[in-house]
Amino acid sequence: MAQLSKRISGILGEGKSGWEVHFEAISRKRAGADIIMLSMGDHDFDTPDATVEACIAALRSGHHHYTDLAGFAELRAAMARVSELSTGVATLPQNVITTPGGQGALFAATQASLDVGDHAIVVGPYYATYPGTLRLAQADYTVVQASAEDDFEPRRAALEAAVTPRTRAMLINSPNNPTGAVYSRRTLEEIARFCIDHDLWLISDEVYWTLAGGEHISAASLPGMEERTLVVNSVSKSHAMTGWRAGWLRAPAPVVASLTNLNLVVTFGLADFVGQALVRALSNDWGVAEIAATYAKRRQAMLAAFQGMAGAVVRGSRGGMYIMLDVREVEPDGQVFAMGLLDTEKVAVMPGESFGEAAAGHVRISLVQDDAVLAEAAARIRRYVEGLARHAATPVLGAAQ
Ligand SMILES: Cc1ncc(COP(=O)(O)O)c(C=O)c1O
Repeated sequence: MAQLSKRISGILGEGKSGWEVHFEAISRKRAGADIIMLSMGDHDFDTPDATVEACIAALRSGHHHYTDLAGFAELRAAMARVSELSTGVATLPQNVITTPGGQGALFAATQASLDVGDHAIVVGPYYATYPGTLRLAQADYTVVQASAEDDFEPRRAALEAAVTPRTRAMLINSPNNPTGAVYSRRTLEEIARFCIDHDLWLISDEVYWTLAGGEHISAASLPGMEERTLVVNSVSKSHAMTGWRAGWLRAPAPVVASLTNLNLVVTFGLADFVGQALVRALSNDWGVAEIAATYAKRRQAMLAAFQGMAGAVVRGSRGGMYIMLDVREVEPDGQVFAMGLLDTEKVAVMPGESFGEAAAGHVRISLVQDDAVLAEAAARIRRYVEGLARHAATPVLGAAQ
């Protein structure tokens, strides 16, 4: 075989990915073990019927053809309306471009803002595809670790320490995967000031905006930020459409105009029938309130079930689909903890290490099962943590002398 490009062979970096626990859990489940899967970021329910019916109707009425590269007019208008709601910033169809999911928007944003050899700042813990997306843009990056003690919100001093003369962009995600952190207005204002002072693009991943557990604040709405903020959006989480691969980037109109050329050579636009269903789903907010209420209820129940647990404490976890459990008191290595939990209690969670060093010694618990299963999972996790805590507290014979 001829040699692959370094660009492609280097997308995944070195080291463990943390997915080992997840894949091990899947293979044990297939073999018949009673495993509760809380390791993925996909809903346990399907897309709302109305959206599915709209797609079937589109297919039956001949929407089988190429569409406009950036998205057809009605679709961009529907996306612009939702962007205006989510960011609080007046948004025209010329400010949005369709992408295959939020991941496609991340790809477009990094390609638009970074040249080969440029540098970016990423806040950790981060969504697992960020490093690979930046490597594909052939950019360098520094991870600024937001600490568990700060509820996983980054601080300006740490950002200043990471900036270099080659820094062109910063990537943030609030509400956050994996931590569930929802950045305060103060934190976002600090980030905005930092980007303005260093003339940076801000790539703001807001795919969980409907799950903020309260008001969602977009960095794009802060003074001086609209012109430098590239907002990543998607219907995967908000509208329960993960498998439809639909999203968009909200950006200044000249950025969108240039990215239309990227769509020419990468996607050639979204699938026609998917776009037609999206117009209806976005215009009617199908599923949005129900999905948000479902996760809010699950989060509250899980937090209540963990209250007063000896040996572990919840960090961040104000929004999104996840709860982050700090288990450092009983086990410094999240991967070891997650594997032990799988072996002992048959619950699969993601080791925090998969999302960068700041989440080491944590595990991410996805709220993607119904209430009864989540209650059972919470009881098993608590039993496991408290067992470890008791073990750690038991004096080793003779050690006291
Ligand atoms: C923070 C974050 N950004 C982007 C994505 C990608 O979403 P999509 O399915 O729309 O590509 C995900 C998916 O889990 C995510 O968690």
